[in-house]
Amino acid sequence: MIERRITNSRVLVTGAAGFIGSNLVEDLLFNGNEVVGFDNLMTGKAENLSAFLDHPKFRFVEADIRDLEACKKACDGIDYVLHQAALGSVPRSIKDPLTTNDINVNGFLNMLLAARDAKVKRFVYATSSSVYGDEKRLPKVEAKIGKPLSPYAITKAMNERYATVFGELYGMETIGLRYFNVFGPKQDPNGVYAAAIPKFIGLLIQHESPLIHGDGTQSRDFTYIDNVIDANNIAALSTNPESINEIFNVAYGESTNLNELVEVLQELLIPFDSKIAEVEVKYGPERVGDVRHSLASIVKSNTMLGYRPKYDLKSGLEKAIKWYWDNLQ
Ligand SMILES: NC(=O)c1ccc[n+]([C@@H]2O[C@H](COP(=O)([O-])OP(=O)(O)OC[C@H]3O[C@@H](n4cnc5c(N)ncnc54)[C@H](O)[C@@H]3O)[C@@H](O)[C@H]2O)c1
Repeated sequence: MIERRITNSRVLVTGAAGFIGSNLVEDLLFNGNEVVGFDNLMTGKAENLSAFLDHPKFRFVEADIRDLEACKKACDGIDYVLHQAALGSVPRSIKDPLTTNDINVNGFLNMLLAARDAKVKRFVYATSSSVYGDEKRLPKVEAKIGKPLSPYAITKAMNERYATVFGELYGMETIGLRYFNVFGPKQDPNGVYAAAIPKFIGLLIQHESPLIHGDGTQSRDFTYIDNVIDANNIAALSTNPESINEIFNVAYGESTNLNELVEVLQELLIPFDSKIAEVEVKYGPERVGDVRHSLASIVKSNTMLGYRPKYDLKSGLEKAIKWYWDNLQ
């Protein structure tokens, strides 16, 4: 595959201090772009950007996407927007739907307006596999979504609707990327809303038991961060007119259940510390709002964007675990 990377451009990354945003910033700077990182540090961390703060082509804007003027200022002179800022986590949205809606819907709309007025070349945004809701058919195909199961899922579904309408009404070019359970370096292992992979790695390293909600047979299409970075680059640069104002799954295209996940994590961590073999999993009650099975079809992303994920679960975990081992000790 020909590497398609954004180069010599001015790129705005929102949610830049977060897991996915900070990895995007690193990739964009590596490829010679001027990068504006925008974040209010609500769930993201300044330390995720510390390596770039002195970079001559990087500028950090600490601001909130709920502030339209700040969004407009940040979009000024920008070629591509990679919009990642949002309040993540299904359980958090169930506990606090108002803040989730405020950031993920009103903030999203501000960013769309700002990007429209700045006439950016393309607005690529993060949506989520949670949009599939109660749709049972596997693999999930973009055109067939079910009823949302959480406020978070509603906000992401609304993002997709807004972006599509902005494309039609104002001639904007948008592309939505439905991420499936992304993992990799810099993903936060701490806190009640941490994602399973970093949380389990953090616990195993400390010889503590990972807690699985339910019987562990629920499955996910775990996606390594480098596949997500590739998808953002090719979405921003896609010259296929049929891909514009469309939505694409971004996943590996294989599902793994949580019991299998813990087994692989232990297998990969044992060479670092043999005692990790003795750690046992704990099981707790199922969580409301969780989707039972998740597996993406990546046919549309492949045929229309040329997306081909390079890392499967194991090869991604090998890289991620090395990073956590070096950084969590
Ligand atoms: N990680 C995943 O598995 C996954 C899956 C599906 C979709 N997504 C989406 O991908 C995007 C990035 O997720 P992530 O995993 O990097 O999460 P993250 O929490 O690490 O990053 C989100 C960033 O957005 C920032 N942010 C939140 N509210 C903001 C506001 N009002 N103004 C400015 N910045 C704000 C946070 O401080 C944080 O740095 C989000 O839109 C998320 O919904 C992630």
